[in-house]
Amino acid sequence: MYTITVIPGDGIGKEVVGGALKVLEAVSKKYKHQFTFKHALAGGAALDAVGIPLPDETLKSCRSSDAVLLGAVGGPKWDDNPPNLKPEQALLGLRKNLGLYANIRPAKIFSALLNASALKREVVEGIDIVVVRELTGGIYFGTPRGIETKNGEPVATNTLVYAESEIQRIAKSAFDIARKRRKKVCSVDKANILETSQLWRKTVVSVAQQYPDVELSHMYVDNCAMQLVRNPRQFDVIVTENMFGDILSDEAAMLTGSIGMLASASLGGKVALYEPVHGSAPDIAGQDKANPLATVASVALMLRFSFDLQKEAEDVESAIEKVLDNGYRTPDIVTENSKKIGTQEMAERLCSAIVTS
Ligand code: IPM
Ligand code: MG
Repeated sequence: MYTITVIPGDGIGKEVVGGALKVLEAVSKKYKHQFTFKHALAGGAALDAVGIPLPDETLKSCRSSDAVLLGAVGGPKWDDNPPNLKPEQALLGLRKNLGLYANIRPAKIFSALLNASALKREVVEGIDIVVVRELTGGIYFGTPRGIETKNGEPVATNTLVYAESEIQRIAKSAFDIARKRRKKVCSVDKANILETSQLWRKTVVSVAQQYPDVELSHMYVDNCAMQLVRNPRQFDVIVTENMFGDILSDEAAMLTGSIGMLASASLGGKVALYEPVHGSAPDIAGQDKANPLATVASVALMLRFSFDLQKEAEDVESAIEKVLDNGYRTPDIVTENSKKIGTQEMAERLCSAIVTS
């Protein structure tokens, strides 16, 4: 029996999580597992209900679960809220409070989607990248921060700070992952300018000594952004700090055809959190247009990393492949000869693929 705290959040979050839960139910039926879902509020939904983005009750529920599944948070309704009352604070609070410093974002191309990528087929064919993003440090959390008035004008400050121990642990995560893959780590920084990056590079180099079987390279972040588009196949594991990882993982997602495809796992604490990389997409919310595949793929990561259910995880991943091979697409990845379907039908087709396989 596994207990999962489910946080649908805002916008398309509810729809994509709804689809992913159906898939989990199909897995539970086939393999006779019992998944217990505890629904909790965060983000705009929590602001509307109780006035804060991350209620204590939600954190408590997460802490007493085996895993957390999150949809997405945010939306224009709360854009003018003060910084501490923005929906996004819920996400940062969850990551920090649960100690989830290692964010794993795999970007793998499905052969059925080669034509959906904005890049040429020969550039994206065969890409299989994992972005390992540091998630609880850097400029997202550094202090001092804020906006004050100096000499009669507003001045805003954020602080980019990293301790050696924070870099060591994320570097280890990256090398451990690389060891089970093609054994290549590219560490991305801005060491030509930033002291934080100089410490980052030095620390990654020293951690690498414990991994002589893994090849380490370094790249400046601007070059990496360019290389990802020029020749993405050169990458295996990319390890980088919080904000660089935020940006590069969106870029990596787009190589695979749509940001609606990219899953993520946030690890490091007792309880891990799984969420799609995409946002709440308020423009298409409630219209049955959202792509649930990133959330479903996140559930596969949950089965694998949190529950050690390898066969079940593979089953979910092959269901995704099968439905795509059969030509079914949500609007974000639809191409000329494919069949356009909605969020719910996509979920139902995944479930039948699981049950019948
Ligand atoms: C992500 C998102 C979040 C981030 C936002 C919503 C706070 O962009 O998970 O990549 O910046 O980390
Ligand atoms: Mg992001």
